[in-house]
Amino acid sequence: MNQEERIVSPAPAPEDLFDAALRPKLLSQYIGQEQLKENLNIAIAAAKGRGECLDHTLFHGFPGLGKTTLAYVIANEMGAGIRVTSGPVIERPGDLAAILTSLQEGDVLFIDEIHRLNHVVEEILYPAMEDFELDLVIGHGPGARSVKMSLPRFTLVGATTRTGLLTPPLRDRFGMALRLDFYAPEELVAIVHRSAGLLGVPLDDAGALEIGRRSRGTPRIANRLLRRLRDFAEVKAQGRITGQVADAALNMLGIDQLGFDEMDRRILLALIDKFRGGPIGLETLATMVCEEKTTLEDVYEPFLIQIGFLVRTPRGRMVTRAAYQHFGRSFAPDCREATGGPGLFADTPPLAPAKDRQS
Ligand code: ADE
Repeated sequence: MNQEERIVSPAPAPEDLFDAALRPKLLSQYIGQEQLKENLNIAIAAAKGRGECLDHTLFHGFPGLGKTTLAYVIANEMGAGIRVTSGPVIERPGDLAAILTSLQEGDVLFIDEIHRLNHVVEEILYPAMEDFELDLVIGHGPGARSVKMSLPRFTLVGATTRTGLLTPPLRDRFGMALRLDFYAPEELVAIVHRSAGLLGVPLDDAGALEIGRRSRGTPRIANRLLRRLRDFAEVKAQGRITGQVADAALNMLGIDQLGFDEMDRRILLALIDKFRGGPIGLETLATMVCEEKTTLEDVYEPFLIQIGFLVRTPRGRMVTRAAYQHFGRSFAPDCREATGGPGLFADTPPLAPAKDRQS
C-alpha cells in the first residue's frame, strides 16, 4: 500500500505540511517524552550558561514521534538559526560543503534520516563535527589537492529511526543520543487539545480521547486525524468533534478502536487464520499481505509489537493472545507448544503507560 494514502501511516504526508504551525516552539510547550525533555533542558541550560553551542545531538525513534520538532525546539531555545536537510538529499561532498560553509556561528544543522548519508559525504562530516573543520579534496588523480577551511561552531542534530543503522564512527561523534518513545493516549489527548485550540476547532474531551486512543502513539497521526475529523464534523455535525462524531468518522475511515487500519488487520489475521498464530518468516508474511519486507518491518510492525500484539522471535513472527482477543478469535491452545511456551502468550494490556514501555 502506498504510505501516502494510508491515514494512519507514521510517514510524513503532503497534508502534514500544515503541522509546522502546530509544532511547539519551546520545551515547556512540548507534551510527552518527559525524561528526554529533562535531559535536553539541562544540556541546553548548561550550554547557554557557558555561552557555548549545544553538543551534537542524535534523536532516534519511529517516524512521527517529534524528532524534527525537537530540532526546531533546540534552535529556538538556543536563540539560533536552523538549516534543515536530510541524508539522501546530500549526494556529493560538495553539497555538504555548501551547507556547512553557509552556516552562521551557533546554528543548528538538522539532518533527518542521517543513517542514509553515503560514506563519502559522511567522512566530510567527521572533522566538521569534531574540529569544526572542512576537509575537502578538489580534483582527481595526481592533480588532486586537499583544502582545509575552518567552520563556524554549530550543533548537528541528527535523526534516525534506529541507532543501529548508523556507522559507529558517526554515532560516536554525537555528544548526546536521545530516544523518543511512543506517546501514551493521555499525552496524545493533550496534544490534540492543543492543536485544536491553535486551529480553532471545537473538540470536547470525549472526542480528544477517541483520537488519542486511535493514533497509534504518534502525534503526527493524531494531528492528521484531527484534520480529517474537522472536515467530517463541518459537513455532518455542525463543526463540533464530540466522542460520537469522532467514533463515527474514524469507523468510516476504517480505523478501529486501537488505531488499526485494513493493513494491520490483514497482517494479524493472516497470522491467526492461515498460520495458527505463527511463527512464520518475514518473507512469507510479506508475500501473504503483498507488501515489501522493509515496509512491514519499519512501518507496520513497530506499533503492533509495541502494543503487544506481535512478537519477533528467532523462528519468525507470532501473534499474542491479545491479538486473538481483539479479533474475537478463539485462542488455539496447541499454538503454545508450537511456539515455545506460555510466556509469550501472557495477557498483554492493550497499551501500557509510556513510562513503562520499551521501544
Ligand atoms: N504537536 C506535535 N507533537 C507535539 C508535542 N509533543 N507537544 C505539543 N504539540 C505537539
